This record gives sequence, structure tokens and C-alpha cells, in this order.
Amino acid sequence: MILVKKKQILLISVYIFVGLWIISTFFKPEKKDEIVFSIGAGTKEIGFIEELVAEFERENPAIQVKLNVISSPTDQQHHYYLTTLGAKTENIDVMRIDTIWLAEFASARWIEPLDAFITGEDRASFIPVTEKTNVYEGYLYAIPWNINVGLLYYRKDLLEKYGFSPPDTWEECIDICRKITPRENLYGYLWQGKQYEGLVCNFIEFIGGNNGRIIDENGATVVHSVQNKRALDLMRDLIWKFKISPPNTYSELMEESSRHLFQQGKGLFLRNWTYVWDLCQEDPFMAGRVGVTQLPRFPEGAHSSVCGGWHLAVNAYSKKKEKAWRLIKFLSSGKTQKKLALNLAWAPTKQLLYKDPELIKQAPLLSIVEKSLRNVQVRPNLPYYQWISDSVQKQINKALSDQKTSQEALQAIYSKMERIQDDFRKN
Ligand code: GLC
Repeated sequence: MILVKKKQILLISVYIFVGLWIISTFFKPEKKDEIVFSIGAGTKEIGFIEELVAEFERENPAIQVKLNVISSPTDQQHHYYLTTLGAKTENIDVMRIDTIWLAEFASARWIEPLDAFITGEDRASFIPVTEKTNVYEGYLYAIPWNINVGLLYYRKDLLEKYGFSPPDTWEECIDICRKITPRENLYGYLWQGKQYEGLVCNFIEFIGGNNGRIIDENGATVVHSVQNKRALDLMRDLIWKFKISPPNTYSELMEESSRHLFQQGKGLFLRNWTYVWDLCQEDPFMAGRVGVTQLPRFPEGAHSSVCGGWHLAVNAYSKKKEKAWRLIKFLSSGKTQKKLALNLAWAPTKQLLYKDPELIKQAPLLSIVEKSLRNVQVRPNLPYYQWISDSVQKQINKALSDQKTSQEALQAIYSKMERIQDDFRKN
């Protein structure tokens, strides 16, 4: 009797063992391959990107995406990549890069050419101007994820109250500010004057609105032109003479600090990027009170915006380039970009989306973006752009804080740019 029981127990144990072996051999949970996506952006943006990544993982069950969230200001992100990519890290596969880093990263061979991955048809579907900052020495190094332009946000309610239309020129803008701001106790024009990349964007827009450039179409340095001096004089005057921009413009104001002031009801006009539209719509105080248009121009100039935006690139040291590309293809698809436009007011890089009826209805901002793109100023796509930018940031900030005249600051940038270009040619 005892012997029979023992036999049964043995048999059951064998069955259990074989069963477990079959399960563990044939029904192993699929091993996922992890790729790392490095990105710096605002809190709401990161939240939404997490949702997109989850959608990508559902569509690609063998891939798991780890987000490497870094701090959002562009200069800080740039610094992060100088140290990580400079150390040949393999721990990043996909990166969101600012348009201005492309030539530098490509010439250092830190990012992978993508020509072999993309089809001609897909490439042609993007806004053509994006190629000016995606291509280096004939190769495509990144896919444009969103395009950005400087825009003029205004308090529609206050302009209506005093019977004004949004300004076309700087003269009109100053006039409106001087009439409304003392009565409503707010600042007139908020913009980004602190020493960082955002100041370079503002400077290029001011000079662009007066037909001025840093480098002309033949590659000559023309930063010290008469038009540019006039534009820089105006930037100073907004703070010191007309007093319609806050006195801390040159020490404090960046995208986020100026946006906060505006949303707190402390500014009549704000220069900022597309994302501000979305944040104003969900702000109970701002919703319905804010309008958006192109930046003011000088009488002889045209409305002018900087072409900003962010691209997706693959780390040249990544061991998972094919999977990295799959994520880029998903994130930059028309379907995903439409969601980004509806949820975050990111302006698409796919041309067709500007004709999408649902987007046109729900994102009125896109028509202003389209107009601004007609006279968009592309920052020089050069490997040594950062050195030029550092000099522009420093000198323009000195002029704004009244440590230098406009003439002195522009002349100093000119001399520095010539030296940088010489050095680069020699090396
Ligand atoms: C925005 C633009 C980017 C620019 C930066 C400056 O993020 O998209 O191109 O360099 O602002 O602060």
C-alpha cells in the first residue's frame, strides 16, 4: 500500500517537473530589447511623450524604451551631450537635439547618418527648410520632430478694451504699450534677454525684422551692419528708454520666466515659441484672453522669426541603431505629429498636416506658424556655431545691460566671428 503511494507521488513529481520544464522552455516571456531615448523638455511635454512611448511599445512588443529625461534649457542639454557623447557613451540610442547642434555633432561623428534608413518619399514629406539644419556635408543626420518659430502673444482682451488691433510694426507696438500699460499696471513687451541661446534667437528676430543678418547669403560676416545697430538700439530702448520691458530682462528673462510673468497677467505682449499657446489655453485666467500673431517689424523690414525646433537623431555609438530608427519613424510620423500638435501645440514638420481640417480647426496657431515660416531665419548650420552663439550672447547682453554701446558690442562680435572662422579654416 505504502509502496503504491510512493510510486504515485514519484510519478506526479515527474509530471510536475516535465510540465515546468516545458513551460519554461517554450513559453518564456519574450526578452525585450531596451533602447534609451534621451530628451529634455517641459513637465507636460514629458508626460505626453511617456504616453507616446507606451503606444510605441504596444506596437513593438520586443522593444522597451527607457526615457532619459534631462533638464530642459537648450544650453544645459548641449553641455550634457558634450560630456556624454564626447565620452562615446553607448547608453543613449535616440536623442532629441536642437537644430543648432547638428553640424557640430555630425562633424564630431557623434550622430549617425540616416540616409540609408529613410525613403525618398518620407524625406520629401517634411517642410523643405528643415533640410537646412538636418544635412551636414551632404548627409542627412536627423529627422525634424517639431519646427519652432518666435511668435507674438498678446492680451486680446486689453487690446480690444482700448480699441487696438495687434501691432504690425515696432512703432505701433511701442505706442500701444505706452497707452495701455500705465492704465493697467503691467509690462508692455516681454522677451528673452538673459545671456543664453534664447537671446541669440531674439536678436536674430529683431535684426531680421530690419532686413539684417549675422552672416549673409555669401557667407560674409555682416553682424556689424547699420540695420543691426538700429535693431540693437531698439532692444536697449525697450528696457531703458521706453521702459516697456522689465528692467531684469537682461538678467532674468528666459522662455519660462517670461511666460510665467505673462500668464500671471503681468505683460501685454510676449515673444515666445509655439508651446505657450497650449499652456495659455489650459490656464483659466488666460484662456480666451490671448491672441497670437507674427512678431513686429521695422518700417522697411519684413516680419521675421527664428527657425527653431528639435530633431531626432541616433547616437553613432549606439549598438541598436535599427531599433532606434523604428522609434524615430514612429515619433516623427504624421499620426504622432498630429497628436503633438493637438496636445502640446508643437508645430508639425510634415507639410501635409498644415492642410489637415481637424488641425486647422483646433489649432488656429498653425496658420500663423505657416506665415512666419515664409521669412524664417535659420541660425548658421556650422560646426562652430556654439562659439559664434557664445560671443553673440555675451556681447548683446552687455549692450542690453548698458555696459557697451550697440556699436561696440556688434564690432566685438564681428571681430570674434572673423577669428573663429579663421581658426576653423586653419584646422
Ligand atoms: C526653443 C527652440 C530652439 C532654441 C531654443 C532657445 O527650444 O526650439 O531651437 O534654440 O528655444 O532657447
